[in-house]
Amino acid sequence: MTERKRIIVGVAGGIAAYKAATVVRQLTEAGHSVRVVPTESALRFIGAATFEALSGNPVRAGVFEDVHEVPHVRIGQSADLVVVAPATADLLARAVAGRADDLLTATLLTARCPVLFAPAMHTEMWLHPATVDNVATLRRRGSIVMEPASGRLTGADTGAGRLPEAEEISTLAHLLLDRGDALPYDLAGVKVLVTAGGTREPIDPVRFIGNRSSGKQGFAMARVMAQRGAEVTLIAGNTAGLIDPAGVDVVHVGSAAQLRDAVSKHAPDVNVLVMAAAVADFRPAHLATNKIKKGPDAAGDPTIELVRNDDVLAGAVRARTDGQLPNMKAIVGFAAETGDANGDVLFHARAKLKRKGCDLLVVNAVGDNRAFEVDHNDGWLLSADGTEAAMEHGSKTLIASRIVDAIAAFLRTSDG
Ligand code: CTP
Repeated sequence: MTERKRIIVGVAGGIAAYKAATVVRQLTEAGHSVRVVPTESALRFIGAATFEALSGNPVRAGVFEDVHEVPHVRIGQSADLVVVAPATADLLARAVAGRADDLLTATLLTARCPVLFAPAMHTEMWLHPATVDNVATLRRRGSIVMEPASGRLTGADTGAGRLPEAEEISTLAHLLLDRGDALPYDLAGVKVLVTAGGTREPIDPVRFIGNRSSGKQGFAMARVMAQRGAEVTLIAGNTAGLIDPAGVDVVHVGSAAQLRDAVSKHAPDVNVLVMAAAVADFRPAHLATNKIKKGPDAAGDPTIELVRNDDVLAGAVRARTDGQLPNMKAIVGFAAETGDANGDVLFHARAKLKRKGCDLLVVNAVGDNRAFEVDHNDGWLLSADGTEAAMEHGSKTLIASRIVDAIAAFLRTSDG
């Protein structure tokens, strides 16, 4: 059970204000005490009653209500986290200027906890130098400003500026609560390629060989790295219907060969490669062009001959050694291990780190419903320099943030 925390959800006045209701519901359902602080303009889009019913707490926008309780100071002081969703261009500007002309901006001034802004506005406003500067200032001051999603905006136009999905906002909110500190914005200018999910090796037009990877850990890696400022391309195999992370370029692939080709295409441009995908080691030697039929008796049952797929991770390490990836500074592999008669999980993982030649290896023990398809994980982080660290059990987003801490530290030492 999650520890009950005090979360303030600020809601600014944009059409996406109605989506804040889902964020509030997700945070209250996780067991937290949520207080909603809308701006006056937010209340023109969605009624206070909705937020009162969802949060179970009174909803005020001004500083002259409940004055004896000094809410303009107390709400911010006592919060464990402030989430502003949606954060409009105007709200970001007022936050930067340190205004306190309503309860939400006063709360932002008095909060000493992590503050997360989920922007939503028209593309022109998001790209305007004023907003760009405001976002940079807020990030420099330690606030977390999410990248907005791209897609359909109000009216017929499309572009960057959509509020990230409620689930992305609450996932990030939980990460900040779990970490207890803000996420550093320390990967600006770093280009990252992440692979995630499982590959599917076609047998015939309707069948394939797949695996149990859900893509959750890899998606969490992409999301956290983008949040920390990296320019992220995510090569996604099959996943359990995950939402494309906001602010990330997503390339969807099917088979191991397609994933390999996508990695070969993007690897020369990037500084970091994170191979979280579960890449099939084998594929059917022949792809049947027609559906394989079940004959009248077992005598005609097919045998599927398998051939080996390329090892994408080992291939990237080789390419770097051969000087073909001069921009590549860190290559991170993942290992799902069960242990066997020859040795335990770590024994096999250490051998795999050497065999693959990557800089960091994230190790998960699998089996007994661990690692695959679930939302939580744990494991170890092994470095090529021999350092080993255990990662405590936590959400896949928290684990991702610990792995990214290690990648960022690795980049700092390799730069310095
Ligand atoms: N990997 C890869 N290409 C493959 C297989 C695996 O790039 N054809 C990468 C995975 O993305 C992961 C790492 O290699 O980062 C380890 O994957 P894993 O399946 O644990 O290792 P294998 O090389 O398949 O070794 P084994 O089957 O012996 O466990």
